[in-house]
Amino acid sequence: MKFLSNWAALLLASACSCNAVVVHGQAKRQDVLATATVNLAVPQGTPAHRASGFLYGIPDTQGQVPSSFYTDMGFNYARAGGSQLPSPALGWVYGTTDFQNRFDSALSNYKTARSYGARFQLLIADIWGADGTAQITMPGDDGSWTYYDEFLEAVFTQITDNDMTEGLDFEIWNEPDLTDVFWQRDQAQYLEMWGHAFPKIRAAFPDMPIIGPCSSSQPSTSNTWYAEYYPFVKSNDSVPDYYCWHEEAGGDDVTTDIENNIAALEYYGLPQNPVIINEYGVPSEQVPGTTVWYLAQFERYNTSGLRGNWASGYSLHDYFANLLGKPDATEDCTTTSCETSTGYWGNGEYNIYKYYNLNMTGTRVQTIRSPDALFDIYATREGTDASTVKMLCGSRLTSGTWDILVTGLDAVGLPAEGTITIHSYQFNWPNGEFGDVPAPVDQGTYPHAYSNNELVFYVSPNTTTGYAFEFVP
Ligand SMILES: *[C@@H]1O[C@H](CO)[C@@H](O)[C@H](O)[C@H]1NC(C)=O
Ligand SMILES: *[C@@H]1O[C@H](CO)[C@@H](O)[C@H](O)[C@H]1NC(C)=O
Ligand SMILES: *[C@@H]1O[C@H](CO)[C@@H](O)[C@H](O)[C@H]1NC(C)=O
Ligand SMILES: *[C@@H]1O[C@H](CO)[C@@H](O)[C@H](O)[C@H]1NC(C)=O
Repeated sequence: MKFLSNWAALLLASACSCNAVVVHGQAKRQDVLATATVNLAVPQGTPAHRASGFLYGIPDTQGQVPSSFYTDMGFNYARAGGSQLPSPALGWVYGTTDFQNRFDSALSNYKTARSYGARFQLLIADIWGADGTAQITMPGDDGSWTYYDEFLEAVFTQITDNDMTEGLDFEIWNEPDLTDVFWQRDQAQYLEMWGHAFPKIRAAFPDMPIIGPCSSSQPSTSNTWYAEYYPFVKSNDSVPDYYCWHEEAGGDDVTTDIENNIAALEYYGLPQNPVIINEYGVPSEQVPGTTVWYLAQFERYNTSGLRGNWASGYSLHDYFANLLGKPDATEDCTTTSCETSTGYWGNGEYNIYKYYNLNMTGTRVQTIRSPDALFDIYATREGTDASTVKMLCGSRLTSGTWDILVTGLDAVGLPAEGTITIHSYQFNWPNGEFGDVPAPVDQGTYPHAYSNNELVFYVSPNTTTGYAFEFVP
């Protein structure tokens, strides 16, 4: 997430060749970079739309975005805490009114999320007021925890009084490893806060998941920040219920990082609790193809992901983290008029989430990404009906040609050899994040000959496009 310097945002940034896109599997093709695999014979459980959450993105006025936008994309995870709202909503360290106004923003977003059955992560650091570069008091300053304890009590009271415990994750702090930004003191003071807060939260809400550290860097045995954090939570008996971190440094690889975390947890002797990537994607990656690259990995690892959000001011609290547009859409709204205006539409990337949710039903099947780690695919089928096979693929900001190998065709009742007709859709990205894109481009059908119970065909995405392929009866 972007951070603010005195309310003004800064820093940390924030022709169709369709006909040739998919051709007969045995046609001559050049420069195939690598192959991704779909194995129809290996089911992987029911789709849960693991990638359909986002950071902020919900207007503070309930009902401002029509409900179909939430339900069509399978929205299921939210995370907010009033960040970037102006005075008098700057957070705890600015006074009681500023605390209450920030909390009320989070409460409104919580109510919206719960009305769609989504879980909600409360961004405690933002309610404190730590969403900027302004130097502020931090928990535990001068060795005193009194002010922080008062804050925790105030938050607990608000959660209880507003009947907010259901579906809530308690996040102790955001990006504590981003020194001088969200956490402005040393790591020792952060760890002391963690150890101090953890038993209090547990005692207040025994069933509420405590999540952390929600770091900007990714865990591994060579991450020096985690070399302190992981041994501390173990010896302190304060292991988070969900581990969280962000995939937003640009170039982070979800698969590598999840595997590295598994190894780090083993190395430090910690339980393999679930992981939530509660910010994913830098702004340039928020395009259809790269979004598929992310969601395929979240699905493969059964890991929930929430989209990163790079907007400023009231725009942070709008557009589903850059999936929607409206007539006066802007990335940095500071007026009530752009804050509350309506007339929403979905952009080209929104169509990915919609297809992922509405069309890819039944059972997930095993997929393996291309070994170059640049191209990935997610696939589903309903029972053993060949006409329900659907695949969604995309590359990570890279143009090129990749093969898709589909194995286990007999699992959907197809003979060992023959011809399969595939219907393809292109998810394009006209006019960027505020582009009005009602639907993907229907690219028609193509017959593909296959043999040996497997099919190979290829796709040539560019830096933004994603593709869906459906077997046609
Ligand atoms: C990617 O392909 C789409 C669809 O053909 C096209 O509209 C878009 O301009 C291309 N983008 C780039 C960066 O080449
Ligand atoms: C955990 O750390 C906190 C802060 O340093 C400390 O007060 C607490 O006693 C520790 N708890 C355990 C079980 O070690
Ligand atoms: C994800 O869940 C499915 C269904 O339970 C399971 O088959 C698969 O092995 C899991 N994947 C991983 C990486 O744990
Ligand atoms: C996805 O499913 C919806 C709802 O059944 C349908 O209206 C739409 O045409 C499908 N989209 C594609 C691209 O197949």
